[in-house]
Formats: sequence, C-alpha cells, structure tokens
Amino acid sequence: MPGIYIHIPFCKQKCHYCNFFSVASNKYRAVFVDVLLKEIQRQKDYLSDQPIRTIYFGGGTPSMLSVKEINQILEQINTLFTVSNDAEITLEANPDDLNESKLKSLKNETAINRLSMGVQSFFDDDLIYLNRVHNGNQARDAIELALKNQFDNLTIDLIYGIPTLTETKWRKNLEIFMAYNLPHLSAYSLTVEPKTALSTLIRKKKMQPVNEEKAIQHFQILLEETNKNDYIHYEISNFAKQGHYSKHNSIYWLGGHYLGLGPSAHSFNGVSRQWNVSSMKQYIEADTLEKTVFEKEVLTTNQQYDEYVMTSLRTSWGCDSEHILNVFGQKYYSHFESSVQQFLLDDKIEKEGSIYTLTNRGKLFADGIAAALFF
Ligand SMILES: C[S@@+](CC[C@H](N)C(=O)[O-])C[C@H]1O[C@@H](n2cnc3c(N)ncnc32)[C@H](O)[C@@H]1O
Ligand code: SF4
Repeated sequence: MPGIYIHIPFCKQKCHYCNFFSVASNKYRAVFVDVLLKEIQRQKDYLSDQPIRTIYFGGGTPSMLSVKEINQILEQINTLFTVSNDAEITLEANPDDLNESKLKSLKNETAINRLSMGVQSFFDDDLIYLNRVHNGNQARDAIELALKNQFDNLTIDLIYGIPTLTETKWRKNLEIFMAYNLPHLSAYSLTVEPKTALSTLIRKKKMQPVNEEKAIQHFQILLEETNKNDYIHYEISNFAKQGHYSKHNSIYWLGGHYLGLGPSAHSFNGVSRQWNVSSMKQYIEADTLEKTVFEKEVLTTNQQYDEYVMTSLRTSWGCDSEHILNVFGQKYYSHFESSVQQFLLDDKIEKEGSIYTLTNRGKLFADGIAAALFF
C-alpha cells in the first residue's frame, strides 16, 4: 500500500550540516499551505486506488506548522484519497517547537499518531557544533512531554561522529535514549555534505573536521548497545523494538509507491520517479499557472536493479537473488551471483537461501559494497 510524503520547507535557522531543502525565511510562509493544497488536488491520480497506508510530514521543520494548517492538509488528503483507518501519520518535530500546549493539541485535535523528534545529541557542545536551535535540556523536556501526552509512538534522531562527541558522551546519549524505552531510533553518521556551512567552516579551519575512524567506533558501539537492549537493526540507520518499524520509510526501502508533495519532494509510482523543484519561489510561482515544476525520469532496468541492490542490502530483509532473477532476468542474476562472492569470502555479506544480508563488518562498508554490485 502506498504512502504520502509532505515536505515542509521552513526552518528557524539552518543547521550547519544540513543540505535538505528548506528556507529560514517567512517570505512565502503565508501562501505555502494554499499552494500545497492545490498541488494535492493536481496529484490526486498519481497513485493507484489502493488505500494510503502512511502519511509523513517531513522537512524542513513540520512542527512549525499550526494545528490548523496540519488539519487543512490532512483534510485535503482525506477528501482526495482513501486513507486507511489505521494509517501511520508521522510528524517530524524539533524539540524547541514542542511545549505542553502544542503537544496536547497535536494529540487531541489532529490525526498525527507518530512523532519523529530531531534530538541529534543531549549535549550542548555537540548541538552548538551542529548549529541546532535547541539545547540538551530542551530535548529531554520535549521527549518527556511527548510521552506524558501519550505520544508513545515516538522516535528520535541522533547523530554520531560529531568531532565534539567523545565515546563516553556517545554512550551517554544512547543510555539516555534507552532509559526512555522509546520504540524506535534513527542514528546517522555525520556527513559533511558539499555546499553546506559545515563544509565551508571545516575548509576554512574554523570547525574541527569529521574523523571517519571515530564514526566507525561510534557505529560499533551503536550496534552493541541497541542489540543488548533488544532493538532490531532493520535498516542501516534505523533500530526498532519488534513491531515498531517505520511503516512509511519501509515503503521506500521495500520498493513501494509514494507521492511526495511540496518543494524538493520525490515521488515513485512503479513506472517513473519524479522530484519537485527545490526552490520556494518557483514552487509558489508555478502554482499561478496551475502547475508544479518537477523533473521526471523513467528508470532503466540497470537503474532499477542498482536501486534494488542498494536499498535492499541496507535492510534486515536483505537482497533476494531469486527476486533479481524473476524481476530483472538471468543477466542481472549472474552478475549479482559472481560479484557478491568476494564479500561472502570477506565475511561482509552472509547468505541464507536466496537472501543476502550485510554482516556487522559489512555494515561499515554498505555504500561501497552496493556500488561494487551495481550493474
Ligand atoms: C533533514 S532533518 C528534518 C527533520 C528536522 N528538521 C530535524 O532537524 O530533526 C532529518 C534528519 O536528517 C539527519 N541529517 C540531515 N543531514 C545530515 C547530515 N549531513 N549528516 C547526518 N545526519 C543528517 C538529522 O539527524 C535530522 O534529524
Ligand atoms: S536538520 Fe532539520 S532543522 Fe536543521 S536545517 Fe535541516 S531540516 Fe532544518
């Protein structure tokens, strides 16, 4: 069953490491929701008639939306699509937006039933390095308030490999997370993306550079600690208690269909992939011509195979060579079977029946291994 992603492209300030599309300006704030509602109308036939299983408000900072705006968007989706009764409806939220009254109204007045909170670290010096708006105490308060207001389906994001994050502090971040007994964690290795403030500041020697060995050490600690506490490592950056996998993100990882709305959002319906323009001005202005500016590509078989290998290998469901044979044919199957051998020998991939998964050793090299298996 398909999902809908809504990109809310506003942030109070840009974090130094982030290259997701968002603006720290209110210039288009007032018209944005109106344009989005019209885009939903225009895209109502993009997906098949199957009920919508997940709705995901991502960003940017969706928690900057008012309850009224969230409900306008959800009502429009409910009017134009059939949404399943038990749909997972997630809101990405920044800790500084979550006070008691906001959480109460999100709980009582909207259909949001899952929160994804961008904590990153519970330590102020890490948050300063990242240029986050919130501090460590605000992160703890927001988690506690969310739990108090029955948002039990709560996940947080943490970042490791930050130069200011020592091994002891990383262990403490994980210990704090575990103490809240939350059902889900996303943990990302800090990546220095090109054209971000972080990459400029590191180049100008104004910020400490990121050290890959430190990130690997943190990743190993992450695997050990989550495993000890019964979290299933179901995707390279995602850990969940049994039954609490992200239904929305699983659609991406299992090759499902989704409609992305808002600037920079991506969509896939099995035939083509398309992505909206990453510009507020162009997104808003195109609406006056009753259109959305997007680029579109029909995937070649090679691209579909590469994408399947890359996403499936990152998950605990693994890469199925029978699926490769049935969907892509003998040529791709033979290529996969021969190129995967070296990783079986190196103990980076293990095999059970036709399913290939990364070993803990292999997880450290996920991107490189996938690239070596590409057609
Ligand atoms: C793009 S943000 C959107 C949600 C929300 N604004 C927030 O900051 O939590 C989603 C997550 O992506 C992760 N992220 C973004 N850029 C990253 C980078 N360069 N390295 C590691 N993690 C990154 C952060 O952990 C963040 O929580
Ligand atoms: S990490 Fe989140 S809050 Fe920070 S700039 Fe990116 S989208 Fe905005």
